Amino acid sequence: MISKNAVIFPNVSLGRNYTIEDLVIIGEPSRGYESGELETIIDDNATIRSHTVIYAGNRIGDNFQTGNKANIRELNEIGNDFSIGTLSVVEHHLKIGHGVRIHTQAFIPEYTILEDECWIGRNVVITNAKYPKSFAAKSELKSAHIMRNAIIGANSTLLPGVIIGKYALVGAGSVVIKDVPDNSVVVGNPAKFINNIS
Ligand SMILES: CC(C)(COP(=O)(O)OP(=O)(O)OC[C@H]1O[C@@H](n2cnc3c(N)ncnc32)[C@H](O)[C@@H]1OP(=O)(O)O)[C@@H](O)C(=O)NCCC(=O)NCCS
Repeated sequence: MISKNAVIFPNVSLGRNYTIEDLVIIGEPSRGYESGELETIIDDNATIRSHTVIYAGNRIGDNFQTGNKANIRELNEIGNDFSIGTLSVVEHHLKIGHGVRIHTQAFIPEYTILEDECWIGRNVVITNAKYPKSFAAKSELKSAHIMRNAIIGANSTLLPGVIIGKYALVGAGSVVIKDVPDNSVVVGNPAKFINNIS
């Protein structure tokens, strides 16, 4: 089903069984590209809720789901079973594995890597520019790498380039300034180790 109020740009390929609600935009060209210049692929069983905007050049696997007003910028590689909540923003050039869940109002900037089954809580902010207005800020962007099955608790902030290990858990409201080892629980500002995940 596709709402008559949705806007689907040229060169968008949709798999089977999709639901595309009112005022969704898919294949929006980003700055510097013509309409339809970049191919956009969304595989089977997508549910794309109202007001979501998906820019051109994304490849998204099966069982994709969005909340209302999710925003996904261009040129991301996204696996199967990806879910992104209401008002969350995914920037461009991300690699997102299978089974990844991003909750409501999270911000995930360019070049972030989210491995399979990782889980991003509500209001999480990932950063990628250590000195945002420096001359080299754009050329030195470095975002987080979140390894498989890691969990980032609600309202946490990750500083540029941190690696969150497999099955690690970042407690709610933490500010992560350095890498978190596999299977560790960290909390606070700055986030410190408190436990192992058994
Ligand atoms: C990190 C977390 C898993 C710790 O749970 P736990 O291992 O059962 O630890 P405890 O509750 O026994 O707390 C251990 C210590 O860490 C502190 N602590 C726990 N969570 C904290 C947090 N988020 N920030 C700062 N300190 C925290 C506790 O105060 C306690 O300190 P104390 O030993 O000085 O008393 C949990 O508190 C948490 O933040 N979960 C994430 C919740 C979330 O964001 N869910 C997603 C949206 S629903």
